[in-house]
Amino acid sequence: MAGNKAVMYMGPGKVEVKDLEYPGLELKEGPGVNPANVGRKTPHGVILRTVATNICGSDQHMVRGRTTAPEGLVLGHEITGEIIEKGNDVEFLQVGDIVSVPFNIACGRCRNCKEGKTGICLNVNPDRPGSAYGYVDMGGWTGGQAEYVMVPYADWNCLKFPDRDQALAKIRDLTMLSDIFPTGYHGCVTAGVGTGSTVYIAGAGPVGLAAAASAHLLGAAVVIVGDLNADRLAQARSFGCETVDVSKGDPKDQIAEILGEPEVDCGVDAVGFEARGHGPGSQQEAPATVLNSLMDITRAGGALGIPGLYVTGDPGAVDDAAKQGSLSIRLGLGWAKSHAFTTGQCPVMRYNRQLMMAILHDRVQIAKAVNAEVIPLEDAPRGYQEFDKGAAKKYVLNPNGLIPAA
Ligand SMILES: NC(=O)c1ccc[n+]([C@@H]2O[C@H](COP(=O)([O-])OP(=O)(O)OC[C@H]3O[C@@H](n4cnc5c(N)ncnc54)[C@H](O)[C@@H]3O)[C@@H](O)[C@H]2O)c1
Ligand SMILES: [Zn+2]
Ligand SMILES: [Zn+2]
Repeated sequence: MAGNKAVMYMGPGKVEVKDLEYPGLELKEGPGVNPANVGRKTPHGVILRTVATNICGSDQHMVRGRTTAPEGLVLGHEITGEIIEKGNDVEFLQVGDIVSVPFNIACGRCRNCKEGKTGICLNVNPDRPGSAYGYVDMGGWTGGQAEYVMVPYADWNCLKFPDRDQALAKIRDLTMLSDIFPTGYHGCVTAGVGTGSTVYIAGAGPVGLAAAASAHLLGAAVVIVGDLNADRLAQARSFGCETVDVSKGDPKDQIAEILGEPEVDCGVDAVGFEARGHGPGSQQEAPATVLNSLMDITRAGGALGIPGLYVTGDPGAVDDAAKQGSLSIRLGLGWAKSHAFTTGQCPVMRYNRQLMMAILHDRVQIAKAVNAEVIPLEDAPRGYQEFDKGAAKKYVLNPNGLIPAA
């Protein structure tokens, strides 16, 4: 039987490519696997030969040692692959299909799944609602930064690409459907972005840039992206965004210079709990900064889309409250302005088919917007390192050499 090389978290700042067992249609014991999930059978699952699997800012929270992820955890929740084996209960997918896998694992049978809330499926994580591949506290489903990976409830979870050759030709774009493109889009939709909107997106990492591309797709009049990383801001400008350097001060003043008023219609947080302060404060972490600033900047009656991740516990937090996930949020301000907030995992399935069509018909250039760079699986440690240093790139791993040269 084939082996399986996989990217593993080996302690703070350390990832390694190591040998892993070839996956089967059953959950086995392993680092981070919830004991209640061990032995769980998945006749509804498929085995994928991974075509593309991306490194995400969400992985970095674990790799920076900001979570309780155990050593040996197999990383990777952004998965696109070719079906090479299917369980007895898979009805509508065939061996040879190339599919995009939403990073949320969902059963398709529970109350939340039936309501389309696939980011908080009730049946896949014994600890709490919501799950993902290769992630701490998410049930222990093996990650997909590997040559092969098992995807459960495959008929429900997989999005099949219509044509194999076309899929491989556009794989740099299509690989973003497993997470960041729907996530950025969801951030914008829930912030109320539409024709003529003015939008401020905090964060010019891959999610922020995907949100910016989404805002354009949704018809925004002005898209302003804020960060303290000059390369990432330049990347945002490369496809028509205005930018704000938050290390120079409060984004509000720079927004006023761009728009003529210190206010936007829609605010998106694509940063999360590792947020830096503004101005001189940008040297330090100040986890409530982005949320408070978005309430300040967003018009009364507006909405905040918050894909940026916030945690229930953070061993590396700046203070004791933040260690418990309690942040100093100015909720009174948001209340006074009747702001709506949308948090949580993006329910990828709500958007991935439509965004696939936008990619296949050249309505959006998502790989270009996030500056996708394809690297071999063996180079994952370098990808993690460079991404952690703030490279203005989205790293796409190519575990089986199936991604054609650009
Ligand atoms: N909700 C979801 O479903 C979902 C899915 C994917 C990622 N995420 C989360 O989205 C966030 C962004 O992901 P990413 O891959 O782009 O991560 P990233 O770490 O590459 O990007 C975050 C960016 O925010 C910048 N930043 C820090 N403080 C800032 C501030 N005060 N104002 C503006 N920018 C600031 C950083 O310099 C960095 O460039 C992460 O928290 C990630 O976990 C959530
Ligand atoms: Zn991700
Ligand atoms: Zn469910």
